[in-house]
Amino acid sequence: MAKVELDLASIPEGKNAIIKWRGKPVFIRHRTPDEIEEARNTDWKSLRDPESDEARTKKPEWLVMLGVCTHLGCVPIGEAGDYGGWFCPCHGSHYDISGRIRKGPAPLNLEVPQYDINEAEGKMII
Ligand code: FES
Repeated sequence: MAKVELDLASIPEGKNAIIKWRGKPVFIRHRTPDEIEEARNTDWKSLRDPESDEARTKKPEWLVMLGVCTHLGCVPIGEAGDYGGWFCPCHGSHYDISGRIRKGPAPLNLEVPQYDINEAEGKMII
């Protein structure tokens, strides 16, 4: 399968990008220091799908996830919802700034795909 290469400098801090990968949207967020702190300070063990932010990211400033709601597959909206992350308008699932499900019917966190970051070249390979 073809890989997608992305220039990290093209996504400023505090912004989202959406790319198409294997027919699915992939969300990439360049997180701010405040967002990273919020994601890491969450008591993740108490969440519906318990996952630490550290386990979901290779570099704290880059969050990469499939843009497919784990309820019934709609595409969530960025910078929306009650937890500062994504909101799925189909049935009201709220994801946090780590893409973890916090409220609504979705059973699981937004899925993190395989990806690599080549810092020397400033590229992300998905
Ligand atoms: Fe997202 Fe139902 S498909 S909440």
